[in-house]
Amino acid sequence: MAMTGVLRPGHAQIRVLDLEEGINHYKNVLGLIETGRDKQGRVYFKAWDERDHNSVIIREADSAGIDFFAFKVADQATLDKLERDLQEYGLKTERIPAGELLETGERVRFGIPSGHQIELYWEKTDIGTPETYTNPPPWTDSAEHGIAPIRLDHCLLYGPDIEKVQEIFEKVLGFYLVEHVLMEDGKTNLAVWLSCSIKAHDIAFVRHPEPGKLHHVSFLLESWEKVLRAADIMSMNKVSIDIGPTRHGVTRGTTIYAFDPSGNRFETFCGGYQSYPDWKPVTWTWDEVGAGIFYHDRKLNEAFLSVVS
Ligand SMILES: [Fe+2]
Repeated sequence: MAMTGVLRPGHAQIRVLDLEEGINHYKNVLGLIETGRDKQGRVYFKAWDERDHNSVIIREADSAGIDFFAFKVADQATLDKLERDLQEYGLKTERIPAGELLETGERVRFGIPSGHQIELYWEKTDIGTPETYTNPPPWTDSAEHGIAPIRLDHCLLYGPDIEKVQEIFEKVLGFYLVEHVLMEDGKTNLAVWLSCSIKAHDIAFVRHPEPGKLHHVSFLLESWEKVLRAADIMSMNKVSIDIGPTRHGVTRGTTIYAFDPSGNRFETFCGGYQSYPDWKPVTWTWDEVGAGIFYHDRKLNEAFLSVVS
């Protein structure tokens, strides 16, 4: 097994202002599959091509935003080792017991200097059907309902101290820098895109004075045509679209940014290149930051740097 340590993004818990509106959005517009509800009133979803029980959890709250973003790690030994490494680095960790999230094992939760809660876990119930594993069809009816992404792919978080965050992800969790955007001084990072895999990013951060903010949670589609179809479905359902369909310079992904009914931005995207840990990071300079973020407009829209939840 070449991939060890942190494997991939696993789940995001998102706050919504109205649960029923949120359920309708995540189930019928985004097209995720509802997989459970718990005693706290949280609702669980997974994408049609995901096997594990949940990747998106929503709960009703007075403010929108993200409670935590989690990564699945290889096994129990990895979870224990990474917890020790995080503590040795100087971070406080907390063990959340198995079952606190439905069908999910013990989680290690820690706060990072940007003000976000990150979790690691290794066990989650595989609810793939027999058809998932033997002579599978290329897609199922669920792949046609709503936007129907393949998977939760990554998130972009806004907060301060992104140098320290980058160091934690690189030195403790084994991520590597794939791309970064420099500020006007030509030295300081405005944004970093980090990978634990061969994806162009598994998590990204933008420097922002207010801690703990969510810019977007992103969902992968299979083709540029499906990005266009996603835009159609958004308009058919009067979803507030931030920008797109367009292309990012950073990662080369094709994209739409839009908002759930509570104002949490989400992305439906396709493409981007594959990278490896020997990748030399791509740099975007301040004068080209517009093209880096939105390749066709070549300028940032007002919302990109200011609207977060
Ligand atoms: Fe993204």
